[in-house]
Amino acid sequence: MSRDQAWSLLQKYVDDPSLLEHSLVVETIMRYYARLNNEDPDVWGVTGLLHDLDWQKFPEKQHCFKTAEILRAHSVDELYIHAIMSHDCHCTGVFPKTPLEKTLYAIDELSGIILADIRIRPSQSVLDLKAKSVKKKFKSPSFARGVDRNAITEGIAWLDSDLTTTINHCLTALQENAAALGLVGNIDQ
Ligand SMILES: [Fe+2]
Ligand SMILES: [Fe+2]
Repeated sequence: MSRDQAWSLLQKYVDDPSLLEHSLVVETIMRYYARLNNEDPDVWGVTGLLHDLDWQKFPEKQHCFKTAEILRAHSVDELYIHAIMSHDCHCTGVFPKTPLEKTLYAIDELSGIILADIRIRPSQSVLDLKAKSVKKKFKSPSFARGVDRNAITEGIAWLDSDLTTTINHCLTALQENAAALGLVGNIDQ
């Protein structure tokens, strides 16, 4: 599935600005990690872009299952479907196996803490955001309390990585694409 096809499909099911932003942020981080792993950035990026395709219209119990249904109706390769099912593994029972899947699982929720941290900064920018700040928010359960810290910890362990490294990769990916993502804030570039 091409990026253009994925983007038009996403727009059919999602118009909530924060879910669109989350989808684009996850896509961007996945593309960055694909390059680190010498894998195809388009495959990783499209998976990230579409991972929450059904979340706005079919939240809770149908999450991931509806996406699988929609993607199968579009004859999308099972590779994407397995990966998307595995980002909510404790509900779907489909667990992440490949580096792509483990990465998606680790960074999905983590990107939520990063975006929330950007929103409370005077600069409103990712450009001056440091891993230390994100780590502090991660350790404070009252901050962005909807974010599942256990999933992040589990995903990072599956990746054989650590929190600081993972946050730094996410920040680099977002900083490199800050303008496209609208995350420059009021910092002069
Ligand atoms: Fe999700
Ligand atoms: Fe997500």
